[in-house]
Amino acid sequence: MLVSATEMLKKAKAGKYAVGQFNINNLEWTKAILLTAQENNSPVILGVSEGAGKYMAGYPTVVGMVTGMIKSLNITVPVALHLDHGSFDGCLKCIEAGFSSVMFDGSHYAIEENVAKTTELVKLCHEKGISIEAEVGSIGGEEDGVVGAGECADPNECKMIADLGVDFLAAGIGNIHGKYPENWKGLSFETLDAVQQKTGDLPLVLHGGTGIPAEMIQKAISLGVAKINVNTECQLSFAEATRKYIEAGKDLEGKGFDPRKLLAPGFEAIKATVKEKMELFGSIGKA
Ligand code: 13P
Repeated sequence: MLVSATEMLKKAKAGKYAVGQFNINNLEWTKAILLTAQENNSPVILGVSEGAGKYMAGYPTVVGMVTGMIKSLNITVPVALHLDHGSFDGCLKCIEAGFSSVMFDGSHYAIEENVAKTTELVKLCHEKGISIEAEVGSIGGEEDGVVGAGECADPNECKMIADLGVDFLAAGIGNIHGKYPENWKGLSFETLDAVQQKTGDLPLVLHGGTGIPAEMIQKAISLGVAKINVNTECQLSFAEATRKYIEAGKDLEGKGFDPRKLLAPGFEAIKATVKEKMELFGSIGKA
């Protein structure tokens, strides 16, 4: 059964560890992440971007696949199915489809509109026991080959959004999606500390988990980060393992092409990446 992410993140914040949000793109990724969580007795959050949702044939398909897998693989650790960077409409669709958690990314709206839309979604989510994440201070990343610096959130704005009743908050602290540029200045712990002081026990979220040095991850956890999102690192390990397999020419041997064998090395690579992150985040044994 799916659970909301609220309890697991409250526990993580109190216990000074973080739960990983690993984004899913297909059946193999989903199965690899769920099995790794179960094998390591760790809670886990499966992230679904709107693009990945579309790719997997829509949110109801994703819910069917994930809930079916939890049942047939006997997954007993807490699993949240979470919309990543959702639009207002995307959140409504996921609430309807049976997701247990959503993120409303209203960072591009004027603050009044962001507040109005967040308030409406908080109400809808909480009526159904669904958790909701909001974002303050946009998270940088690559767009058309240009890597934008991560913006630092205004702690007062964080407090205002936190007071709307969201269950966890992503505050920009110089983090970006994808690989970090050579001249990256690192995370702003000053901002994180100020945000935590304003928001108290609210679990904080760190996006762009790929490529952040281990010491920075640990310091972020010590300052209230309880959820860390990872996507690019799984993409890279999956692609590299698949490339090696194809280059070895094994699919061209014998009777022909076997898609299950082709995807097996990538599946194992995702399992290894997810386990490594769970160790770093301290969530192993915390289910
Ligand atoms: P990375 O792709 O940098 O790991 O970031 C993932 C993320 O923050 C998804 O919301």
